[in-house]
Amino acid sequence: MSSSPEITQLVDRFGRVVDYLRISITDRCDFRCVYCMAEEMTFLPRAQLLTLEEIDFVARAFADLGVKKIRVTGGEPLIKKGVLGLLENLGKIESLNELVLTTNGSKLEEMAESLKNAGVKRINISLDTLDADKFKQITRTGDLKKVLKGIQTVIKVGFDRIKLNAVILKNRNHQEVTNLVQFAIDNEIDISFIEEMPLGIVDDHNRAEVYYSSDLIKADLEKNYKLNSIADKTGGPSVYSIVVGTNTRVGFISPHSANFCSTCNRVRLTAEGRLLLCLGNEHSVDLKQVIRANPGNMEKLKETIVDSMKIKPEKHEFDLNEQPILMRHMNATGG
Ligand code: GTP
Ligand code: 5AD
Ligand code: SF4
Repeated sequence: MSSSPEITQLVDRFGRVVDYLRISITDRCDFRCVYCMAEEMTFLPRAQLLTLEEIDFVARAFADLGVKKIRVTGGEPLIKKGVLGLLENLGKIESLNELVLTTNGSKLEEMAESLKNAGVKRINISLDTLDADKFKQITRTGDLKKVLKGIQTVIKVGFDRIKLNAVILKNRNHQEVTNLVQFAIDNEIDISFIEEMPLGIVDDHNRAEVYYSSDLIKADLEKNYKLNSIADKTGGPSVYSIVVGTNTRVGFISPHSANFCSTCNRVRLTAEGRLLLCLGNEHSVDLKQVIRANPGNMEKLKETIVDSMKIKPEKHEFDLNEQPILMRHMNATGG
């Protein structure tokens, strides 16, 4: 099959419509979160990364093919030189409904205003604990105070929606879930809890031993709050409840305990220009090779993207008790 001008929607073999693109614009990060990276990481040489112009070109191809939501992520996207210019350009793509960002929050204090001006609508910020020492242990290099200032700044600047993301690990930060929800309630923002996924080898912990399921988190929260399930969807894998009597939604991202692959609507562009069709499988197409071999050829790129739908896998095969089958760490993948 090849693309024709009338193709305006990406559909895979299982009838799933792909309208969400996640772009990892850099594999570098100023943090070293224990679930994401090993302590010593080798990052990709710059020549292997897509340039900002190439990222923009790929994003436009996807928008032409019906993608409505682009999430810019990393590594840490806000440490990439030129990120604001890229966001401004992406923000001008008319057919996009949403330009959104996932960040560790370390640069938000300085950049919140510019992000808003660039057209970013929603921001998701990683925050696994409110305890400065634990924050240091989990992120290895992060500074909680700086991130909290960043969060206050984005709240002041005002975005359509601000959500915290917390990866919960047993005996590391599982005791923190109530504090984190209270922080979200006090600031009238949302929060999602995430079950850790086995991507890349991490040297800090055994992933099966620290597994803490969404159901356990929910039960912990229900000791203090009434949670009502709601049907709200944000286009990502979170399943939401509202904390009764507040404006805060609590999301659960449960790759192990409640597989959400049947409703998958997304693909990822890795920092080195690989189109990854599933977070939990290696099925991919090298878009960098296609655009470098056919400079400026949008049709060729779109044709390749349409064809890639044939190899989008049905579901991930994560197994916390096995060594990760995927050697790719989350930072290169974009979550
Ligand atoms: P919203 O747009 O607010 O719904 O955000 P999102 O959940 O799509 O994105 P975010 O960057 O906040 O990601 C939160 C978590 O969801 C991260 O740990 C991602 O790795 C995970 N996630 C997102 N998409 C998928 C997916 O397709 N499969 C799996 N297994 N995890 C995913
Ligand atoms: N499992 C689950 N979530 C992860 N993240 C990073 N690595 C992992 C992992 N191994 C989360 C970050 C961030 C989002 C993009 O992905 O905390 O919130
Ligand atoms: Fe950096 Fe995010 Fe990975 Fe933490 S989870 S090391 S902040 S890319």
